Amino acid sequence: MNESVSTLIVSKIMNGTVIDHIPAGKALDILNVLNIKGSEGLRIAVLMNVESKKLGRKDIIKIEQKKLTPTEVNVIALIAPTATINIIENFLVVSKYRVEIPEVIEGILRCTNPTCISNKGGEPIRSRFKVISREPLKIQCVYCGSFVDKDDIPKLIIRKS
Ligand code: CTP
Ligand code: ZN
Repeated sequence: MNESVSTLIVSKIMNGTVIDHIPAGKALDILNVLNIKGSEGLRIAVLMNVESKKLGRKDIIKIEQKKLTPTEVNVIALIAPTATINIIENFLVVSKYRVEIPEVIEGILRCTNPTCISNKGGEPIRSRFKVISREPLKIQCVYCGSFVDKDDIPKLIIRKS
């Protein structure tokens, strides 16, 4: 099969962000935790299960006119530790970096333990997890010691609307 037959062709974007090298199948989780629904009117391309030299298969998300906040990048790291963020200006990649799981994850995830002090209403206590290991990802609540299952992370993300 020649290249043009076997390759899924998707337009380059002019200005915005390309989240590349997402583990195959995780793109929708990422859109979800970024709270991107499509109704914002942004032009978005989502590619799933496309060929990758490094990962075998990967997902890619291209979002026009979008800049990610540092918190959003940390959230992406928790779901897609292999992801690279490409910042596009005038069709050129002006910046490219790997996401990185921070040492301490603060105010991003809810603790699974309902009696944890970080889940008590009233006085606001920011959730705080320590990263015990990155591969496989293992994180622990500093308040109650609960461990978080990697697969539960997408649904534990605290959404600020
Ligand atoms: N991209 C895009 N629009 C642009 C420029 C780049 O959508 N105007 C996308 C590319 O399709 C690719 C990603 O941004 O998915 C990174 O682009 P580039 O660095 O040119 O590709 P590679 O060299 O293959 O990246 P890497 O080495 O990180 O795999
Ligand atoms: Zn806790």
